[in-house]
Amino acid sequence: MLKLDSVRVSYGAIEAVKGVSLDVKAGEVVAIIGANGAGKTTLLKGIAGLEPLESGRVTINGVDCSALPAHKRLGVGVALSPEGRGVFPDQTVGENLLLGGYALRKDPARVDKLMAREFERFPRLAERRHQLAGTLSGGEQQMLAMSRALMSEPRLLLLDEPSLGLAPLIIADIFRSIRALRDAGLTILLVEQMANQALSVADRAYVLETGRVTLEGTGQQLLKDPAVRAAYLGAH
Ligand SMILES: Nc1ncnc2c1ncn2[C@@H]1O[C@H](COP(=O)(O)OP(=O)(O)O)[C@@H](O)[C@H]1O
Ligand SMILES: [Mg+2]
Repeated sequence: MLKLDSVRVSYGAIEAVKGVSLDVKAGEVVAIIGANGAGKTTLLKGIAGLEPLESGRVTINGVDCSALPAHKRLGVGVALSPEGRGVFPDQTVGENLLLGGYALRKDPARVDKLMAREFERFPRLAERRHQLAGTLSGGEQQMLAMSRALMSEPRLLLLDEPSLGLAPLIIADIFRSIRALRDAGLTILLVEQMANQALSVADRAYVLETGRVTLEGTGQQLLKDPAVRAAYLGAH
């Protein structure tokens, strides 16, 4: 579903992603864990087409997307739920979802159907469909960000720090939703600073340190790895 070959992304002189190779198979949940500033967000932006690659290759669903703009990658089947959620605060929940389905705007019946599916998936959003997104709680905004990404019917969902800034009970809710998406067959690349939950839900995971993959394995292997435990799971 996704293959990265030696992907490099820079901001001027700052090389944030320094040659990352990884792959995600159809139906897998793959986690990327790493400290603040490791390059996780930059890597997802490079996959979604929001930051240009300096070199390397991004292949999505067999299509070389390395030089494609973001909206064309959406068409290939990748959608990003960004760090910080990025909902449009002055638009309603419903309007935010419509924007997620913008590429399908010539087929309103399909957009309606997708929106109904999202409201079924997240009943809290259905109850709040006429409410301005800026007035939602953090957890609800996270649901909206995921839902908006799902409105483009992606094959591959990129999730950047879905748990960021949320209370533990809400984080549990969000991870329940991620498991439900996995059970529905969606392929997910999940970026998290909170490694414990991410490794528990992931089939496989990669550790990113200052722009490089330093470790990979199954979620269970990394959960037990002493270096991972010391660095990311707060174990001693
Ligand atoms: N827009 C930007 N301009 C310049 N440097 C950036 C920008 N975004 C991120 N960086 C730098 O790139 C590195 C990786 O950042 P980021 O991808 O956000 O890491 P993470 O998501 O793992 O916390 C950091 O050193 C950060 O300061
Ligand atoms: Mg980040």
